Amino acid sequence: MPLILQPGTTLVAATHNPGKAKELVALLDGRFTILSAGELGVPEPDETETTFVGNALLKARHAAHLSGRIALADDSGLSVTALDGGPGIFSARWAGPSRDFYAAMAKVEERLIETGSDDRSAWFTSALAVAWPDGPAVVVEGRVDGELTFPPRGDRGFGYDPIFIPAGHGLTFGEMDPAQKDALSHRARAFEMLKAALF
Ligand code: IMP
Repeated sequence: MPLILQPGTTLVAATHNPGKAKELVALLDGRFTILSAGELGVPEPDETETTFVGNALLKARHAAHLSGRIALADDSGLSVTALDGGPGIFSARWAGPSRDFYAAMAKVEERLIETGSDDRSAWFTSALAVAWPDGPAVVVEGRVDGELTFPPRGDRGFGYDPIFIPAGHGLTFGEMDPAQKDALSHRARAFEMLKAALF
């Protein structure tokens, strides 16, 4: 059976974050009706895998299994070369329960100083998974490379945006026009791959 998504299908976004569910609707050009796992009362699983792809698949499969509908999940984060790819899948967790990304960015800077390395290269990853309730699934991964800068600059993005300058640009993601960031981000690249795979 080819894995094709028909426009108008109702998808479950495997997230309890209404902002993320809305972003997924926008990235899919409004082609689908999206319900969030939160709205359906589907609990979030523990992210026990060791890769972005693994965690995206785990979340999509869990939501598809419990809701009986096709489910879409993402997992993303910042990886720093000199930190052996950290914070990576722990990007959200470095911000702690209060989701303080200024503290998380300070932690990245401290850890970098501790390594003694002057390598500031880093990349964002976005893994997107779609799972069907009867088993099959598709997963893709988008990436954008760049350099870290300290102190953080700009307040237009979220998370680690203020310390990340994408390769070939001078502004951080936090300073960029959101439309410019969306055009080159890891998430946009992953969505292009997902659309190519499923539509
Ligand atoms: P997730 O919700 O488990 O995928 O956590 C991803 C975390 O990675 C977020 O909380 C952000 O801190 C970080 N992250 C992912 N994508 C971006 C981005 O585009 N800009 C800044 N931070 C990001």
